[in-house]
Amino acid sequence: MKKLILASHNPNKAIEVMRILKGNYSIQTLNQAEIHQEIPEPYNSLEENASQKSRFIFQLTGEDCFGEDTGLEVKSLGGEPGVRSARYAGEHAVSEQNIQKLLDSLGDNPARDARFRTVVSLILGGKEFQFQGTCEGTITYRPIGSKGFGYDSVFMPDGAEKTFAEMSGNEKDLFSHRRKALEKMAAFLENFDFH
Ligand code: IMP
Repeated sequence: MKKLILASHNPNKAIEVMRILKGNYSIQTLNQAEIHQEIPEPYNSLEENASQKSRFIFQLTGEDCFGEDTGLEVKSLGGEPGVRSARYAGEHAVSEQNIQKLLDSLGDNPARDARFRTVVSLILGGKEFQFQGTCEGTITYRPIGSKGFGYDSVFMPDGAEKTFAEMSGNEKDLFSHRRKALEKMAAFLENFDFH
């Protein structure tokens, strides 16, 4: 079974990645690989940050690996918080603070179209490949639901009548940006000639 290190310290992401890639890959978390360094995310685009994550782990281990960066892009806020989603309300902000800042920024504005965008960076034999997945939806007027993580409780995907935070993991995967990006990576790996 193909082994890949997941270049993320985020346990919520690891759960989703494991669920989506199921039994087809042997995914090693950074904890399992005994890598405890912070991975910097210094750039102004999801593409560059995703790349930085996988390259950082490849430089440490020399192993095939993948990382991802995700942002919530709100149309009427000019794409904000975007690449700054994790730090929207400040450098060490927690999700509740980021959500509050988002709801404050939107106020009563009815223009609440948004999308999640995930960029996955895969490093195979030292070469990098990127895959993108998006999920269109709207920002609710208040948090609803208690599952999931990050901005899940204020994001309702198009075609659903509940937020990500009201959905089971499998339901979220039906819509999710992360699932779409990872399935593209999986399809690519299926066809990759490892010889
Ligand atoms: P990062 O990709 O770890 O930098 O995450 C960026 C920000 O988006 C963090 O605040 C995450 O909590 C949030 N985030 C990432 N993925 C999701 C998701 O699938 N649902 C809700 N929030 C997310």
